[in-house]
Amino acid sequence: MQILKVENISKIYGGKKSTNKYVALKNISFEVDKGEFVGVMGASGSGKTTLLNILGSIDKPTTGRYIMDGKDIATLNKDELAKHRINNIGFIFQDYNLLDTMTLKENIILPLALKGHKVNIIEEKLFKITKDLGITKILDKYPYEVSGGEQQRAAACRALITSPRIILADEPTGNLDSKSGKDLLELLTFINKEYKATILMVTHDVFAASYCQRIMFIRDGEIYNQLYAGDNKKQFFDSIIDVMSVLGGEGR
Ligand SMILES: Nc1ncnc2c1ncn2[C@@H]1O[C@H](COP(=O)(O)OP(=O)(O)O)[C@@H](O)[C@H]1O
Ligand SMILES: [Mg+2]
Repeated sequence: MQILKVENISKIYGGKKSTNKYVALKNISFEVDKGEFVGVMGASGSGKTTLLNILGSIDKPTTGRYIMDGKDIATLNKDELAKHRINNIGFIFQDYNLLDTMTLKENIILPLALKGHKVNIIEEKLFKITKDLGITKILDKYPYEVSGGEQQRAAACRALITSPRIILADEPTGNLDSKSGKDLLELLTFINKEYKATILMVTHDVFAASYCQRIMFIRDGEIYNQLYAGDNKKQFFDSIIDVMSVLGGEGR
């Protein structure tokens, strides 16, 4: 079942009157099925973050539209859009984006508190998700008191606690050491399998990408190629390296 349909999305930075316009996305079209774990790869500046921000309704496309769960998101008004974002989208960022003045617990439950859920329901969801993601013991700590890997786990809990329709992750392993990075990728795989979460993950890291079921490669704002994971993980890994070497893309 399809969850996302992107139709001819373009993004031009710099307004109508601007003299230095920049075309960041050119007529991008693709579809994502419910439960897919899709990677987005491309060299630095190819438009990956722009695409993710548009799909997370943080930013708007210049032309084109996308349908999420059968709804044309461009037709939503400001209030509906805010509601859509909090109900349907879970974001995981490279730099975790936790609030420093709140404990991990407070950070994680923030989306539910904003939605006005009852305390006992919030506690129940908090318990399940933090148990699944292995951070129950550090919930009363502040972000600066725990490791990067633990902060990213908390950020993943925050993204998941609302049971979003889609999880958007922008270089989620970018600031993590290789062990914590691997842990997070295994966590995302777990979330994908157990919670049937649909995940769209931007990465420039081939190892991270090899956890995905499909990779979309972006070059200069256009979809350049797609690769599907087969049964052989090593082969998938090698194919990703081949495409990335053409795209010139290990740089951030
Ligand atoms: N707010 C902005 N205003 C102008 N140009 C931007 C803005 N955001 C990104 N860009 C440009 O658009 C291109 C794509 O950026 P981005 O989507 O961040 O790429 P990536 O995430 O693949 O590195 C880059 O050339 C970048 O400089
Ligand atoms: Mg980026």
